[in-house]
Amino acid sequence: MTSSFKHRHLLGIRELSASDVTAILDEAEQWITFNRQRRKQDDRLTGLTQVNAFFENSTRTLLSFEIAGKRLGAQVVNFQTSQSSLQKGETLLDTVRTVNAMQPDVMVLRHQLTGAAAEVAASIDCAVINAGDGVGEHPTQALLDALAIRRRLGRLDGATVAICGDVRHSRVAHSNTILLRMMGAQVRLVGPSNLLPDASESEGASLHTRLDDGLAGADIVMMLRIQRERMDDALLGKLGDYSSQWGLNAALLDRVAPDALVMHPGPINRGMEIDGTLADDPKRSLVLEQVELGVAVRMACLDLLTRERRA
Ligand code: NCD
Repeated sequence: MTSSFKHRHLLGIRELSASDVTAILDEAEQWITFNRQRRKQDDRLTGLTQVNAFFENSTRTLLSFEIAGKRLGAQVVNFQTSQSSLQKGETLLDTVRTVNAMQPDVMVLRHQLTGAAAEVAASIDCAVINAGDGVGEHPTQALLDALAIRRRLGRLDGATVAICGDVRHSRVAHSNTILLRMMGAQVRLVGPSNLLPDASESEGASLHTRLDDGLAGADIVMMLRIQRERMDDALLGKLGDYSSQWGLNAALLDRVAPDALVMHPGPINRGMEIDGTLADDPKRSLVLEQVELGVAVRMACLDLLTRERRA
């Protein structure tokens, strides 16, 4: 099988071209149908070993990569870092080199340090997929979000996407902004000024410090969790009554962007950044569709990144 996708690793959206993104999304489409069948077993990754090394908590991303690998026939191993020698002082690079010596073909890595995936990729020889590095990137989340938007709007080019909340600490917002701008969408980053990136780091998005202004007429509203684990106490103290100023609910959406579809990467803090009823409304919320498409996108990524190895 030939492919124009030439990357060894998937470390960030920044390294991809618009045609790489389109190739991944096009490949993912077939897996959506496949995943809706009762029996979901492909064999293209048979004999390959996929290690999911998650040094930070995860529900969706870890499970999604595990299911994706298994449906393609790979041997999937989840590395429980809380029970590992990291607790005994071993460094990240020593740990991943140890895993690499066991000859995995793919390592899916999540780590709290920005740049961790790139560092690991430079020191081991299996394919590395970044499943979130600190405040850096989360490329498969941006790809699954793009697939959800493309399927609903029929395009990415010309779409207006408002990404709201704790943008500054969000690798999801970062990867989404790079991807959506590259594909011709308008991106608005919306939130209190201390949770927005500096203008020089906004990746071509516009910055908005009023929720109704940022949301007005948007096609897509993507809400983000407050990433307390990446904030100091001083910043947390300044957030005040966040939900009354920055929480999204149906009444606000009806007023400023009545046709907008709502997205959230999860985990959701109900009643904080988004009202629970709105998040659950299947006519407006794509939250569970995002999760479904995530498996398809990860299957496409695992397939594309291992084609050369399998040839
Ligand atoms: C996000 C993450 O871990 O970056 N979650 C996810 O992967 N779906 C967002 C978050 O933690 O808020």
